[in-house]
Amino acid sequence: MIVTIDGVAASGKSSVASGVARALGVPYVSSGLLYRAATLLGQQAALDLREVTGLISHLQAHALRLEPLSEGNRVWLGEQDLTGDLHSTQVDRDVSVVAAHPEVRAWVDEQLRALPAPFVAEGRDMGTNVFPQAAAKFYLTASPRVRAERRAHERPEDVAAIEAALVERDTLDTTQSAPAEDARVIDTGPLSLQGVIETILSTLPK
Ligand code: C5P
Repeated sequence: MIVTIDGVAASGKSSVASGVARALGVPYVSSGLLYRAATLLGQQAALDLREVTGLISHLQAHALRLEPLSEGNRVWLGEQDLTGDLHSTQVDRDVSVVAAHPEVRAWVDEQLRALPAPFVAEGRDMGTNVFPQAAAKFYLTASPRVRAERRAHERPEDVAAIEAALVERDTLDTTQSAPAEDARVIDTGPLSLQGVIETILSTLPK
Protein backbone atom coordinates (compact mmCIF):
# COMPACT_ATOMS: atom_id res chain seq x y z
CA MET A 1 0.00 0.00 0.00
CA ILE A 2 1.19 3.53 -0.77
CA VAL A 3 -0.11 6.56 1.19
CA THR A 4 0.72 10.04 -0.15
CA ILE A 5 1.02 13.21 1.94
CA ASP A 6 1.55 16.36 -0.13
CA GLY A 7 1.37 19.97 0.95
CA VAL A 8 2.87 23.44 0.99
CA ALA A 9 6.36 24.24 2.35
CA ALA A 10 6.71 23.77 6.11
CA SER A 11 3.21 22.36 6.52
CA GLY A 12 4.64 19.56 8.66
CA LYS A 13 4.68 16.92 5.91
CA SER A 14 7.79 15.04 6.98
CA SER A 15 6.94 14.90 10.70
CA VAL A 16 3.41 13.77 9.83
CA ALA A 17 4.64 11.24 7.26
CA SER A 18 7.14 9.88 9.77
CA GLY A 19 4.45 9.48 12.45
CA VAL A 20 1.99 7.82 10.08
CA ALA A 21 4.72 5.51 8.73
CA ARG A 22 5.77 4.51 12.24
CA ALA A 23 2.19 3.70 13.21
CA LEU A 24 1.85 1.54 10.09
CA GLY A 25 5.30 -0.04 10.55
CA VAL A 26 6.52 1.04 7.09
CA PRO A 27 9.19 3.55 5.89
CA TYR A 28 8.37 7.04 4.67
CA VAL A 29 9.83 8.65 1.59
CA SER A 30 10.74 12.33 1.64
CA SER A 31 10.85 13.33 -2.04
CA GLY A 32 11.90 16.92 -1.31
CA LEU A 33 15.28 15.66 -0.11
CA LEU A 34 16.21 14.57 -3.64
CA TYR A 35 15.37 18.06 -4.98
CA ARG A 36 17.40 19.54 -2.14
CA ALA A 37 20.35 17.21 -2.85
CA ALA A 38 20.27 18.09 -6.56
CA THR A 39 20.33 21.78 -5.58
CA LEU A 40 23.24 21.33 -3.15
CA LEU A 41 25.30 19.43 -5.71
CA GLY A 42 24.69 22.13 -8.32
CA GLN A 43 25.61 24.88 -5.86
CA GLN A 44 28.79 23.10 -4.77
CA ALA A 45 29.85 22.79 -8.41
CA ALA A 46 28.98 26.49 -8.98
CA LEU A 47 26.61 25.54 -11.83
CA ASP A 48 24.04 27.92 -13.27
CA LEU A 49 20.93 26.25 -11.82
CA ARG A 50 18.69 27.73 -14.52
CA GLU A 51 20.64 25.71 -17.12
CA VAL A 52 19.22 22.20 -17.01
CA THR A 53 21.64 20.47 -19.40
CA GLY A 54 24.73 20.99 -17.24
CA LEU A 55 22.80 20.20 -14.09
CA ILE A 56 21.41 16.90 -15.39
CA SER A 57 24.77 15.66 -16.65
CA HIS A 58 26.28 16.58 -13.27
CA LEU A 59 23.52 14.62 -11.48
CA GLN A 60 23.95 11.63 -13.75
CA ALA A 61 27.69 11.58 -13.05
CA HIS A 62 27.07 11.39 -9.28
CA ALA A 63 25.52 8.51 -7.35
CA LEU A 64 22.87 10.23 -5.22
CA ARG A 65 20.68 7.83 -3.27
CA LEU A 66 17.67 8.37 -1.00
CA GLU A 67 17.46 5.99 1.96
CA PRO A 68 13.86 5.88 3.25
CA LEU A 69 13.65 4.90 6.94
CA SER A 70 10.68 5.36 9.28
CA GLU A 71 12.72 7.44 11.74
CA GLY A 72 14.16 9.87 9.17
CA ASN A 73 15.34 9.80 5.55
CA ARG A 74 18.97 10.15 4.53
CA VAL A 75 20.58 11.13 1.24
CA TRP A 76 23.92 9.60 0.29
CA LEU A 77 26.47 10.73 -2.28
CA GLY A 78 28.40 7.48 -2.55
CA GLU A 79 29.58 6.94 1.06
CA GLN A 80 29.05 10.59 2.09
CA ASP A 81 25.89 11.46 4.08
CA LEU A 82 24.57 14.82 2.75
CA THR A 83 21.44 14.92 4.92
CA GLY A 84 22.67 17.49 7.45
CA ASP A 85 23.40 20.05 4.69
CA LEU A 86 20.03 19.87 2.90
CA HIS A 87 17.93 22.23 5.04
CA SER A 88 20.04 25.39 4.80
CA THR A 89 18.63 28.80 3.83
CA GLN A 90 20.79 28.67 0.65
CA VAL A 91 19.25 25.38 -0.46
CA ASP A 92 15.73 26.70 0.43
CA ARG A 93 16.43 29.73 -1.81
CA ASP A 94 17.36 27.79 -4.98
CA VAL A 95 15.46 24.51 -4.70
CA SER A 96 12.28 25.67 -6.48
CA VAL A 97 14.28 26.75 -9.55
CA VAL A 98 15.91 23.31 -9.71
CA ALA A 99 12.59 21.51 -9.08
CA ALA A 100 10.89 23.42 -11.93
CA HIS A 101 12.99 21.63 -14.60
CA PRO A 102 10.96 18.72 -16.08
CA GLU A 103 14.22 16.78 -16.59
CA VAL A 104 15.07 17.06 -12.88
CA ARG A 105 11.54 15.96 -11.98
CA ALA A 106 11.90 12.91 -14.25
CA TRP A 107 15.25 12.07 -12.54
CA VAL A 108 13.60 12.25 -9.09
CA ASP A 109 10.43 10.39 -10.17
CA GLU A 110 12.44 7.49 -11.58
CA GLN A 111 14.20 6.98 -8.23
CA LEU A 112 10.94 7.21 -6.28
CA ARG A 113 9.08 4.74 -8.49
CA ALA A 114 11.91 2.22 -8.08
CA LEU A 115 11.38 2.05 -4.29
CA PRO A 116 9.66 -1.06 -2.94
CA ALA A 117 6.16 -0.47 -1.46
CA PRO A 118 4.65 -0.28 1.11
CA PHE A 119 5.60 3.25 2.20
CA VAL A 120 4.25 6.72 2.98
CA ALA A 121 5.48 9.27 0.38
CA GLU A 122 5.55 13.00 1.12
CA GLY A 123 6.18 15.95 -1.17
CA ARG A 124 4.28 18.13 -3.64
CA ASP A 125 3.12 15.84 -6.41
CA MET A 126 3.15 12.37 -4.86
CA GLY A 127 -0.64 11.92 -5.18
CA THR A 128 -1.07 13.68 -8.52
CA ASN A 129 1.90 12.67 -10.56
CA VAL A 130 4.24 10.11 -9.06
CA PHE A 131 1.87 7.65 -7.35
CA PRO A 132 -1.63 8.36 -8.79
CA GLN A 133 -2.57 4.77 -7.84
CA ALA A 134 -1.97 5.43 -4.09
CA ALA A 135 -4.49 3.86 -1.71
CA ALA A 136 -5.00 7.09 0.25
CA LYS A 137 -3.99 10.71 -0.44
CA PHE A 138 -3.70 13.74 1.83
CA TYR A 139 -2.77 17.40 1.27
CA LEU A 140 -1.61 19.54 4.21
CA THR A 141 -2.05 23.30 4.41
CA ALA A 142 -1.57 26.00 7.07
CA SER A 143 -1.33 29.78 6.95
CA PRO A 144 2.10 31.28 6.10
CA ARG A 145 2.41 32.75 9.62
CA VAL A 146 1.73 29.43 11.35
CA ARG A 147 4.26 27.68 9.11
CA ALA A 148 6.88 30.41 9.62
CA GLU A 149 6.47 30.15 13.38
CA ARG A 150 7.06 26.41 13.20
CA ARG A 151 10.14 26.86 10.96
CA ALA A 152 11.59 29.56 13.23
CA HIS A 153 12.79 26.77 15.52
CA GLU A 154 14.94 25.37 12.69
CA ARG A 155 16.31 28.47 10.90
CA PRO A 156 18.42 31.41 12.13
CA GLU A 157 16.24 34.15 10.53
CA ASP A 158 13.32 35.91 12.24
CA VAL A 159 9.68 34.88 11.69
CA ALA A 160 8.90 37.72 9.22
CA ALA A 161 11.88 36.83 6.98
CA ILE A 162 11.01 33.12 7.11
CA GLU A 163 7.36 33.90 6.25
CA ALA A 164 8.39 36.02 3.25
CA ALA A 165 10.68 33.25 1.97
CA LEU A 166 7.92 30.64 2.41
CA VAL A 167 5.39 32.75 0.50
CA GLU A 168 7.91 33.19 -2.32
CA ARG A 169 8.60 29.42 -2.41
CA ASP A 170 4.82 28.71 -2.45
CA THR A 171 4.50 30.92 -5.54
CA LEU A 172 7.44 29.28 -7.31
CA ASP A 173 6.12 25.80 -6.42
CA THR A 174 2.54 26.45 -7.61
CA THR A 175 2.82 24.41 -10.81
CA GLN A 176 4.20 21.31 -9.06
CA SER A 177 2.06 21.53 -5.92
CA ALA A 178 -1.69 20.97 -6.03
CA PRO A 179 -3.98 18.54 -4.20
CA ALA A 180 -5.00 15.45 -6.14
CA GLU A 181 -8.74 15.38 -6.89
CA ASP A 182 -9.10 12.39 -4.57
CA ALA A 183 -6.90 13.86 -1.78
CA ARG A 184 -8.28 14.82 1.61
CA VAL A 185 -7.16 18.40 2.40
CA ILE A 186 -6.24 18.99 6.07
CA ASP A 187 -5.64 22.45 7.56
CA THR A 188 -2.94 21.68 10.15
CA GLY A 189 -3.13 25.18 11.70
CA PRO A 190 -5.47 24.30 14.58
CA LEU A 191 -4.11 20.77 15.04
CA SER A 192 -1.14 19.37 16.95
CA LEU A 193 1.28 17.07 15.12
CA GLN A 194 -0.33 14.10 16.86
CA GLY A 195 -3.77 15.43 15.88
CA VAL A 196 -2.83 15.45 12.17
CA ILE A 197 -1.33 11.96 12.41
CA GLU A 198 -4.47 10.62 14.09
CA THR A 199 -6.77 12.30 11.55
CA ILE A 200 -4.88 10.54 8.77
CA LEU A 201 -4.73 7.16 10.52
CA SER A 202 -8.46 7.27 11.27
CA THR A 203 -9.37 7.72 7.58
CA LEU A 204 -7.02 5.11 6.09
CA PRO A 205 -8.70 2.15 4.38
CA LYS A 206 -8.53 -0.91 6.67
O1 C5P B 1 9.38 19.30 1.03
P1 C5P B 1 10.50 20.31 0.97
O2 C5P B 1 10.08 21.68 1.40
O3 C5P B 1 11.75 19.84 1.63
O4 C5P B 1 10.84 20.40 -0.58
C1 C5P B 1 11.81 21.28 -1.05
C2 C5P B 1 11.45 21.76 -2.44
O5 C5P B 1 11.52 20.65 -3.36
C3 C5P B 1 10.06 22.34 -2.62
O6 C5P B 1 10.04 23.73 -2.31
C4 C5P B 1 9.78 22.09 -4.09
O7 C5P B 1 10.39 23.09 -4.90
C5 C5P B 1 10.53 20.80 -4.37
N1 C5P B 1 9.67 19.62 -4.35
C6 C5P B 1 8.93 19.35 -5.48
N2 C5P B 1 8.20 18.20 -5.56
C7 C5P B 1 8.17 17.34 -4.54
C8 C5P B 1 8.90 17.61 -3.35
C9 C5P B 1 9.63 18.78 -3.29
O8 C5P B 1 8.94 20.13 -6.42
N3 C5P B 1 7.48 16.20 -4.66
